Amino acid sequence: MSGTTKKTTTAEMAPGVHIPLIGLGTWPLTGEDATAAVAQAIDNGYRHIDTAENYANEAAVGEGIRRSGIERGDLFLATKFNTQWHSRDGVRQAFAQATGRLGTDYLDLFLVHWPNPAQGRFVEACEGLQELVDDGSIRAWGVSNFKPAHLRQVQAAGLRVPLNQVQVDPERGQPEQLGYHREHGILTAAYSPLGRNGDFLSHPAVSGPASDLGKTPAQIVLRWHVQHGRVATPKSANPHRQRDNLDVFGFSLTREQLDAIDALETGAAPRLDSDTYFH
Ligand code: A2P
Repeated sequence: MSGTTKKTTTAEMAPGVHIPLIGLGTWPLTGEDATAAVAQAIDNGYRHIDTAENYANEAAVGEGIRRSGIERGDLFLATKFNTQWHSRDGVRQAFAQATGRLGTDYLDLFLVHWPNPAQGRFVEACEGLQELVDDGSIRAWGVSNFKPAHLRQVQAAGLRVPLNQVQVDPERGQPEQLGYHREHGILTAAYSPLGRNGDFLSHPAVSGPASDLGKTPAQIVLRWHVQHGRVATPKSANPHRQRDNLDVFGFSLTREQLDAIDALETGAAPRLDSDTYFH
């Protein structure tokens, strides 16, 4: 299921498609800030960059990739599209526009950003994504912010959902959502994995192992994510934080330490409710 590349560890999210467990989140960076952050992250060893149409930074991210000088094939590039494209033909247009902005001819991962159940066309969007995989335009597809009820509808259409990117941090552990993913072999990718500087970073369950192991609280939380088998995409433009956030593969947490962080779960729902929020 997993393997090691130079700087990071990966999960096999679809046959032969290895996603680095730590990626760079890019919201809300735009323009030169996004370009510089992406180039610097790649220089710091990141091999997975996460963006979205709605972040309005795909062109800047693409520029950062080119500035870094990395070979395209050495990078895992993921982006997401808005709900206006929820049809088979629409997904194809979204792909053409995203790759045009990014300056690439394929995507490693293309995601439905929000289900928008009132519009009711997210199953078609997933079918369109599967067609893009089948014709080699993208290596893998996934969804984001899909609740189990939405996932069930996609699965009922005969599709296997490879990955769902949702908001997860120690206080928003989303046990039912993640339990559903486990049961159905859906890889979880955590956005806002550090909870936007959550208070839990100073909780003894996090700060204790941090001082014992000589790591930062953020590294402990990111290690908690990857040890649970999740992808995590922390955003930072700060070079020290970028390096720290990637450097979580040389130590491990004990079962007790993982359990103590799991116990910070509050039952809080994600910040945005995907039954009503979308773009
Ligand atoms: P900064 O960007 O100033 O480095 P999200 O993933 O939801 O976008 O949230 C990212 C937040 O987490 C930002 O506020 C970012 O701050 C912060 N962050 C990223 N890396 C670290 C770190 N290593 N330590 C503390 N905060 C971090």
